[in-house]
Amino acid sequence: MSDFTSNFWNLYIAILTIAGIIFCIWLLVAVGKREQKSSDSSHVWDGDLTELNNQLPGWWRWMFWGLLIFSIGYLVYFPGLGSFKGTGDWTQIKQFDEEMTALQAKTKPTYDSYLAMAAEDLSKNKNAMETAGRIFSNECARCHGSDAGGGAGFPSLKSGDAMSWGGDVAAIKQSITEGRTGVMTPMGEAVGGAPGVKAVVAYMRSLSGLSHDEGLMAQGGKLFEDNCAACHGADGKGVKEMGAPNLTDNIWVYGGSEAAMTKVVELGKNSNLAQGDFAMPAYKGVLSQAQIHLLTAYVWGKSHK
Ligand code: HEC
Ligand code: HEC
Repeated sequence: MSDFTSNFWNLYIAILTIAGIIFCIWLLVAVGKREQKSSDSSHVWDGDLTELNNQLPGWWRWMFWGLLIFSIGYLVYFPGLGSFKGTGDWTQIKQFDEEMTALQAKTKPTYDSYLAMAAEDLSKNKNAMETAGRIFSNECARCHGSDAGGGAGFPSLKSGDAMSWGGDVAAIKQSITEGRTGVMTPMGEAVGGAPGVKAVVAYMRSLSGLSHDEGLMAQGGKLFEDNCAACHGADGKGVKEMGAPNLTDNIWVYGGSEAAMTKVVELGKNSNLAQGDFAMPAYKGVLSQAQIHLLTAYVWGKSHK
C-alpha cells in the first residue's frame, strides 16, 4: 500500500469505511426502536390501497447485523482498512507464492520425467506436447504466431534446418535458453550507395531464383563476395554461428520484395536496436529447465513429423 506518497488517502478510505459501518449500526438501532404502527391512514390510493408502516422483518435485521459483524471481523483480519495490514498477515503475493509452490510440487514428478526424455521422443508424447503447446501460446505465440509460422520480422519455427541459428535440438535449445540477436551491419555505404545496393540485391535475388536484372550480375556477385560472404557464406547459404540466414532458399523474414531486401541491405538489421527490431529474448530464469526442454521438443517436432 505504498502507492501514495502521503497518508491522506489511507486515512480518507479508513475514515469513510468506519463512518459507513457506524452509520449502518445507527440506522439498524434506530429502525429497531421505531414503534410498531400497523397503518398510516394518511396515505391511501385508489380508494383502498393503504400504505403500511411496519417494522422491518426480524430475519432481515438479523441478517444485516450478521453482515456488519462479518465486515468488522474481515477488516480486522484482512488488509482493507486504508493501509492497515490486518492481523492475519495475509497478502495476495503470499497466497500466490503458496499456490505456486503447491502447484510446482504437484507437477514436479511429471516435469522431471519429461526432462529425463530425449527431445526427439518427447515430441511424440501427446500429453507433453499439449503442455508445451500451452506454454508456447503464453510465451512465444505473440511473436512467432500461434502456429509457430512466424511473420514479418519474426522467423518461422517450422522450417527445420533452414532456421538461421539451426534446427537441431541443441541449436533450438540454445536459441530459447540464451536468446538470439542477429546483427547485420548497414551495408549501403560499403557497397557504394544505391547503385551498389541495387546490384547486390539483383545478385541475391538470382540465388533464390527470383526475377532480377542479368546486367547487374557480375557487379553484384563481386560486391557480394567482398561484403556479404563473410557472414552469409561464399555460396550465400548462411552461417548458423552468426545467425546469418541462408539467402538462397527464398525464405525471407523481412520480406522477399526488392524494396524489402534493399531496406535490409541499406540499413542493416540489429535486432531490437535501431529500427524497432525485436530480438529473441533469453528464457533461462523465466522458464524452468523442464519447460525449455518441452518447448525445444515442441519446436523440433514442428519440422520433424
Ligand atoms: C519478443 C518476441 C519474441 C518472443 C516472445 C519469442 N521470440 Fe523467438 N525469436 C524472436 C526473434 C526476433 C528471433 C530472431 C532473432 C535473430 O535471428 O536475430 C527469434 C528466434 C527464435 C529461434 C531461432 C530461429 C532461427 O531462425 O534460428 C527460436 C528457436 C525461437 N525464437 C523460439 C522461441 C520460443 C520457443 C519462444 C517462447 C518461449 C520464443 N521464441 C519467444 C522473437 C521472439
Ligand atoms: C556482419 C554480418 C553480416 C554481413 C556483413 C551481412 N549480413 Fe545480411 N544478415 C546478417 C544477419 C545476422 C541477418 C539476420 C538479422 C536478423 O534477423 O536480425 C542478416 C539478414 C539479411 C537479410 C534478411 C533476410 C531475410 O530473411 O529477410 C538480407 C536480405 C541480407 N542479410 C543480405 C545481406 C547482403 C546482401 C549483404 C552484403 C551487402 C549482407 N547481408 C551482409 C549478417 C550479415
